[in-house]
This record gives sequence, C-alpha cells and structure tokens, in this order.
Amino acid sequence: MQLSVQAPAKINLFLHVTGKREDGYHELFTFFQMVGVYDEVAVAKTAGDIRLHCDLPGVPETENIVYRAAKLLREACNVGDGAVITLRKSIPMAAGLGGGSSDAAAAMVALNRLWGLGLDRDELAALGIRLGSDVPFFFGGPAALGKGRGEILEPFPPLEGWVLLVNPGFAVSTAWVYGNIKKLTSLPDNTKLPSFLKKGLTAGNLCIEEVRGYLHNSLEEVTELNYPEVKEIKNRLLDNGASAALMSGSGPTVFGLFHLEEDARKAAAALQRNDRRIFVAPALTRSPLTL
Ligand code: C5P
Repeated sequence: MQLSVQAPAKINLFLHVTGKREDGYHELFTFFQMVGVYDEVAVAKTAGDIRLHCDLPGVPETENIVYRAAKLLREACNVGDGAVITLRKSIPMAAGLGGGSSDAAAAMVALNRLWGLGLDRDELAALGIRLGSDVPFFFGGPAALGKGRGEILEPFPPLEGWVLLVNPGFAVSTAWVYGNIKKLTSLPDNTKLPSFLKKGLTAGNLCIEEVRGYLHNSLEEVTELNYPEVKEIKNRLLDNGASAALMSGSGPTVFGLFHLEEDARKAAAALQRNDRRIFVAPALTRSPLTL
C-alpha cells in the first residue's frame, strides 16, 4: 500500500518576536498561511525499518527531518512495521517557507494512516513540536495564528490572493537569524491589534486590503543586514505591482501579494534571474494535508 501526500509551503503574514525564553527559543506572535507550492511525500508500508530516498542530495538520510519524524512516530506508537519514504523537493530549503516542517508533517499524516494509528491532530502536533517549531501548524491550516514557539495555534480564515515567492538562491540558518536579533518587538496591544483578527473563523476569507497594513517581520532586519538582496527583492516586488511585500519566516525568501495571477506572473518575469527561484502560487484556502 502506498500513499502520496502534498506538503505545502507557508509564509508568515506577520511575525512578531516578543520575548526570549528560558529554553533558548523565542516567543512569537505570528500568522501562518499555506501557499500552493508543494513537496511530494510518497510513503509505502514495509515489514522492515524506515528508509528515506530524497531527490536532492545534501542531507544524510538519518538526519533528514522526514526520517526523524517517521522514527519518532514509530517509537512513540510502538509500531512494528516500517516504511519506504520518497521525498521530491520543490520548496527551497532553509528558505523561511517551512518546507522541512511541512514534509515532516506530511510523512506523519501518511504514516498515521498507513500504520493505522488513529492519532488526532493534537496528538500529531504534540509529537511534531519535538521536531521543529513550525511542524504543528501543518497538521491544521490553511491559516492560523501562532503563539509560544509557534505551536499554540488558533485556526483562522485564510487569505485569498496570489503570492509571488522570490528565493534569492542561498540558504539562511534559522538559528543564526534568531541568535542575532537585536531588539524584540512588544506584543501589539489590543488597540493596535490587526482589526481582521477580530473576525471569527466563520466570517469568510481575508482579503489583501485587510492584512496589508499589518505585515511585519521582526526577523527581516537581521537577515537584511547580512543579505542586502532581501531588501532589494522586496523593493522590486513593490515597484512591480505587489500590494505588499515581506520576508517570510527567517528568510531569505521574500513574498509579494497580488490580487491577480497575471499581475503576479508579470512581476515574476521582471524579477527572474538565473540564481533565483521564483514561484507564483495561490494562498491556500484549504489544506492538502487532511488526516
Ligand atoms: O524549532 P526549529 O528547530 O525550527 O528552530 C530552529 C532554531 O530557530 C532554534 O534552534 C532556535 O535557535 C530558533 N528559534 C527560536 N524561537 C522560535 C523558533 C525557532 O529561537 N520560536
């Protein structure tokens, strides 16, 4: 039996880093939004151990977060069966797009089904947080507010619109970015909280106008200072018709928001360069990762 799952990328429409914690992590107030750029995780049940094949070299099999996710689930649930996992990467790595976290969540969703474990979303998320701060979000979505390390989640209506992702073609270490934060932002007080946050889950999708004034990323200036191309890309996105633009997560990928796909594609053509990876994709209004 084999299962193939699409693992989507994410962007952070805002990411406030509000405190440093005793455990070394940072306290966040963030808005996660899934985007239609996907890795593919194919899983087959076997009688052996866990094996992982990835179409990109670089990360040794047993260090890959997907391999570690499968091992963790197998041990936590005392599973006797094994699995062969095939990972096809499209989402750039160490890019601020949550690709590895999404892959790990996708593998756990597929194995939960193949191994007949019956874990619910909260149980999967409780294991997922041991692998990475962004993993729990991918069991829910397509959009959520995140607090704590990012694992205290509140589902939220998703954004409707088109996203142009521009990855400059180099990797940035998340740990390095967090380690170089100079100033924390204070949690926006109630009067300055995005008014769209008062919307309930049933109130319909968000539009770009509702969110554009609240785009913020506390990590942007850390990454920009070392990699000035991030700021350049952001300015070029705005010059080429993006309604708003921001670095995602710890970067270096920058996203621009557009109402129309064709406008996003025109901007993509203007920003295209051999060393960049560029994607035009919808903000997702449904998660492909269903339990
Ligand atoms: O959780 P994850 O392994 O993705 O985090 C990578 C690194 O980013 C952590 O080791 C930590 O240095 C930093 N981080 C943080 N606070 C968060 C999330 C990540 O300091 N909320």
